[in-house]
Amino acid sequence: MQRLTVKVAKPYDVVMERGLLARTGELALEVTAPCKVCVVTDENTHGLFSETVSGSLASGDFDVYKITFPAGEETKDIAYFGKLLEFLADNEFTRSDIMIALGGGVIGDLTGFAAASYLRGIKFIQIPTTLLAAVDASVGGKTAINLTAGKNLAGAFHQPSLVIYDPETAEHLTHEIFLDGLAEAAKSGVIADKDLFDYIMISDDPPFSEFVTRLVDSSIRVKASLVEQDEKDTGMRQLLNFGHTSAHAIERLSNFDITHGSAVAMGMLIASKAALVEKWSRTDCYTPIKTFLIKYGYRMDPGFSPEQLAAAASIDKKRHGDVVSVVIPLEIGECALMDIPIDQLVDFFKAGM
Ligand SMILES: NC(=O)c1ccc[n+]([C@@H]2O[C@H](COP(=O)([O-])OP(=O)(O)OC[C@H]3O[C@@H](n4cnc5c(N)ncnc54)[C@H](O)[C@@H]3O)[C@@H](O)[C@H]2O)c1
Ligand SMILES: [Zn+2]
Repeated sequence: MQRLTVKVAKPYDVVMERGLLARTGELALEVTAPCKVCVVTDENTHGLFSETVSGSLASGDFDVYKITFPAGEETKDIAYFGKLLEFLADNEFTRSDIMIALGGGVIGDLTGFAAASYLRGIKFIQIPTTLLAAVDASVGGKTAINLTAGKNLAGAFHQPSLVIYDPETAEHLTHEIFLDGLAEAAKSGVIADKDLFDYIMISDDPPFSEFVTRLVDSSIRVKASLVEQDEKDTGMRQLLNFGHTSAHAIERLSNFDITHGSAVAMGMLIASKAALVEKWSRTDCYTPIKTFLIKYGYRMDPGFSPEQLAAAASIDKKRHGDVVSVVIPLEIGECALMDIPIDQLVDFFKAGM
């Protein structure tokens, strides 16, 4: 079993191995005594994994309560958030009881925010089942729900007590959902781990489970190191937003028809081309990133003009005052933050497209 520790104010472990879902009970006992546990799933992860996880918890003497929500982004909503809190209260959960998020980033963010809020904070365990949740959302402590005005507008920083990753879960993902996570893993490589990026590009058809474990392990190391330096996201952690200024604009303009990972892949392409054209990067990062998109069959053209993207990006959450912080690759494995004035954003997109 691979284990790494995320060294934030309250450190926690990430454990990874094929078949770990069936050992959830034993692993949970590392962070709590037997207690009530609320296992949160969506309709898909309930059918696929709930029995294994609940069975293991029951044999570890946990008192298991299960709640299942519809699958999809709409579930990260104040109504379901309320239902989850009421479910905990109806079942008399106390501060020494715990929650488990068994699902993708939607279930992780919703459960995490409920755990941060219920009785002003109870422990929770992340069991990410999408690649995106494993490489990104399950680590770092950001939890949130969406409001009518936009995504992730209400939330809290609340770190999990443990993250359990079973690469077997990835075998059930559709290709499109797999690609979403792969884009974030490639992003981690470009930000801070050239070996990871090279592995994604040249590894010669390794066993799927080995491939996925490497992506998750290396990406979490990149994320953990940035989160350890900047737990509350005021500095270094922003490097994780590589490709995301464009991605958020693309997602919004497409009414979220273009998925996050696909938008991130195009966002990386735009940022690396702009950096090449403007000579901000030390080496050409555009060609390897373009090769990555082609190799895995990502969409290459967002279908929006530089003007449209600039207008959508100018209302980004990452805007401060009259500038937007954009992440620029210096070389594969090293990125830097750069402030671009709002009125020059259109030039950034023109250079990048
Ligand atoms: N907190 C953070 O730091 C952070 C970081 C990145 C993204 N996010 C959030 O994560 C969410 C996106 O996460 P996501 O892409 O995992 O979406 P998701 O949770 O909606 O999962 C995508 C789909 O995959 C299904 N699914 C989950 N596991 C499966 C499996 N093993 N096999 C087959 N199907 C499975 C789900 O039911 C869902 O239909 C967004 O809301 C985003 O804001 C949060
Ligand atoms: Zn992302």
